[in-house]
Amino acid sequence: MKHILSSEQFTREELEEIFDLAEKIKKNPEAYKNELDGKIIAVMFYEPSTRTRLSFETAALKLGAKTITTENAGEFSSAAKGETIEDTVKVIAGYADAMVIRHRSDTSAEEAASVNKMPILNGGAGKGEHPTQALLDLFTIREKFGKIDGTRVAVLGDLLHGRTIHSLLRLLSLYENIEVYGLSKDVFALPQKYIDMLKARNIEYKVCKSFDELPKDLSVIYHTRIQAERFEGDFGKEEFIINKEVLDTFSSNTILMHPLPRVIEIAVDVDDDPRAYYFKQAHNGLYVRMALLLRVLNKA
Ligand code: CP
Repeated sequence: MKHILSSEQFTREELEEIFDLAEKIKKNPEAYKNELDGKIIAVMFYEPSTRTRLSFETAALKLGAKTITTENAGEFSSAAKGETIEDTVKVIAGYADAMVIRHRSDTSAEEAASVNKMPILNGGAGKGEHPTQALLDLFTIREKFGKIDGTRVAVLGDLLHGRTIHSLLRLLSLYENIEVYGLSKDVFALPQKYIDMLKARNIEYKVCKSFDELPKDLSVIYHTRIQAERFEGDFGKEEFIINKEVLDTFSSNTILMHPLPRVIEIAVDVDDDPRAYYFKQAHNGLYVRMALLLRVLNKA
């Protein structure tokens, strides 16, 4: 059974297969409109979402599948009465052909997949992983630069709790000549296990203390919001805000990415700059998630 649980599960070859398919779908989505006729995709989100949930639902509909979903699974599913993820999956497997899950627990997707009754797609698990986001991020980088080898990326924001960053670094580590720079408040520094993972794959993680310490010819600046819902207390606001003045200190070829939603870390005066890629990135999520649904349902 094929699941999408972690960025760790992929080889470079598998990534290229997914990106090639997503590229074909993006060029001609109509050609795929009946591929999942008769299939039902369950979308169980226990945490808020705009992009992941709605792009997965749109992906299913564009492929001819139907969706069953809850507005807020933590409150409106029987999880509120104490039902486990495993029991929920055993039941839904009798209704649906695949399930997308977002949950506050880092291990939720693995728990759902352990039932092994239908393909599970991890739509974001606590502060752990968000692999489908990382796939659409890499797809966007490949689309812009024609390759992923040689990407020089700075990751900013909440590197401690940011699951999109964690999944992105795992995927990037599969490629050659990757450079990674980190710029965040000390309290939101990247966990050591990701620094060790990069080191084990011969990628040095360079901690920076200001925009001035970042190379000006980066391929990608990848910002993220402070994940206030994942910790107690007040650690203050983001200090490293990208506005037009800051962006203009970087190369005309550097792209600015963000998984969204943004709060204050990217000023809206940047939105019309050709280097602002975050809305393109979000739109690419549709095609990558169409490719993933086809893949787990053996239609790729
Ligand atoms: N990037 C992302 O996961 O957005 P949502 O929380 O809106 O799904």
